[in-house]
Amino acid sequence: MNILIVNGPNLNLLGIREPEIYGRKTYQNLIDYITDYCTYHNINIKIYQSNFEGKIIDIIQENYDRFDGLIINPAAYTHYSYAIYDCLKSISIPTIEVHLSNIEDRESFRKISVIKSACIAQIYGKGFDSYIDAIKLLQKRIK
Ligand code: DQA
Repeated sequence: MNILIVNGPNLNLLGIREPEIYGRKTYQNLIDYITDYCTYHNINIKIYQSNFEGKIIDIIQENYDRFDGLIINPAAYTHYSYAIYDCLKSISIPTIEVHLSNIEDRESFRKISVIKSACIAQIYGKGFDSYIDAIKLLQKRIK
């Protein structure tokens, strides 16, 4: 199984940004955590991060056809990027939206996800394990 993981703006600042919300672990810690799980379970992954909306779309367009599933944390773009929504609607692989924090329990603008309806599931509030739960869901779905 091949899974593409795409992370949006400011996730590269994990460990520095709002540690009371996102914790003190770094973006590299996140990559290592996901990679360890996938190595153990024999899953191929490719992880990208970009702070640019168009770059996120380019990454998805250029890679999706080589992967069985997509996990995306569009970060703040979640809440207003119709361009990413259109991109997800254009591709044919199952996609899961993930968030580290509990977006239902923060500022009201975070309760809105414009990409949710282009995804088979939305997982949030579990820290790094939001990604692991998404991988497990894709495992069940793709088998
Ligand atoms: C986030 C939640 C978003 O609201 C925020 O803009 C982020 C991170 C999360 O993973 O909890 O940058 O996607």
